[in-house]
Amino acid sequence: MQYRPFGPLEWPVSALGFGCMRLPTTDTGAIDEPVATAMVHEAIDRGVNYFDTAWPYHGGESERFLGRALQGVSNDRAKVATKLPSWAVQEPEDMERYLTEQLARLQREHIDVYLLHNLNRDTWRQLVRLDVLAWLDRVVADGRVGAVGFSFHAGFEVLQEIVDAYDRWSVCQIQYNYVDEFYNAGTRGLQYAASKGLGIAIMEPLLGGRLVDPPASVRALWERAANRRSPVEWALQWLWDKPEVSVVLSGMSAPEQLRENLACAERSAIGVLSDEERELMAEARDRYLAICPTRCTGCKYCEPCPNGVAIAMLMKALNQGIMGDDLGGARRQYARMAEGERGSACVACGVCEEQCPQGMPVSEWMAYIHQVLGEGRNYDPAERP
Ligand SMILES: NC(=O)c1ccc[n+]([C@@H]2O[C@H](COP(=O)([O-])OP(=O)(O)OC[C@H]3O[C@@H](n4cnc5c(N)ncnc54)[C@H](OP(=O)(O)O)[C@@H]3O)[C@@H](O)[C@H]2O)c1
Repeated sequence: MQYRPFGPLEWPVSALGFGCMRLPTTDTGAIDEPVATAMVHEAIDRGVNYFDTAWPYHGGESERFLGRALQGVSNDRAKVATKLPSWAVQEPEDMERYLTEQLARLQREHIDVYLLHNLNRDTWRQLVRLDVLAWLDRVVADGRVGAVGFSFHAGFEVLQEIVDAYDRWSVCQIQYNYVDEFYNAGTRGLQYAASKGLGIAIMEPLLGGRLVDPPASVRALWERAANRRSPVEWALQWLWDKPEVSVVLSGMSAPEQLRENLACAERSAIGVLSDEERELMAEARDRYLAICPTRCTGCKYCEPCPNGVAIAMLMKALNQGIMGDDLGGARRQYARMAEGERGSACVACGVCEEQCPQGMPVSEWMAYIHQVLGEGRNYDPAERP
């Protein structure tokens, strides 16, 4: 495993980090604990030393799972990051309550990196009003937290405001991949946070898995490259190529994915891509975005829908139907879904929209997806919500 400096932290972080939001699951949707535990141990044995979880992942079970999986593993070998659910904090006492519960779930007295989760302009300003920075000072001083940071899903100006507001940030976690080069914080945000000395953790490096199987127009580009790489490896090396990137967090739902990503990490290096390959990746981004219908990465922060609509599944069906040039297949999949899960069951209550890190007008999308997949409306990019 290769290691990289991690901002001001005294320990280097493994180039590949383990994201615990998309763990292997059983048929019932529960974490497949034997498989997931074996993956965590295999990752540690291969040098992965950073595990990222959060309060809501896997319906609250991810932190508990990680707590059990890391029993008996020394802190030198496995650092844990988890996050304050910023959207749920209404009063100062809530911060203390969540941290206490998270320490219990993780069965630890110390969390190595504690992030303010999913910051955007609103969540950030609300937390500032509740004096979150003074609270962070206290939890570091009393030893319950080793270092603090934030995960982020908004534009560059907000990132800059947050970075500049506090001189004790250690880690900035952003959604970043070759398709999202100019989206949210983008490269500008990456470089800004790194220039201020923060360690950078990358989330959604494969756009939630969507870059695993890119459209034919993107694959065709890579045929021209001298180096043969899988779509996963192109995406991951694009990140490790950059000196600002500390750790690439990968959600891995099967042991084979872990092994492939470990192998990619072994081959990684700053400057691993040639100038020609960087240009190819820029063209890959443009080709991908030209046909990509929705921004949904399937993170499921929007779920569970109070009305039972299968939001992420519907977004995925449309994305795959359009990008895989198989709208017929997507329509057949839609027809097989239970009526209560379909876009037509959306009552536009807006609960999902408060949670969507991509800021998508989910209710409008549900109505639109129903028209395209359920009623045969023509898909026209110009008419998307
Ligand atoms: N703080 C936040 O707001 C936030 C938001 C999102 C994520 N995160 C964190 O960042 C981590 C990484 O983000 P992510 O989970 O979205 O990562 P990602 O790498 O973009 O997507 C993970 C998905 O990619 C697929 N995949 C990964 N490696 C693969 C391989 N070698 N071959 C084939 N498919 C592969 C799997 O899809 P399938 O399961 O479909 O096979 C996996 O579930 C998360 O796990 C979480 O810890 C944080």
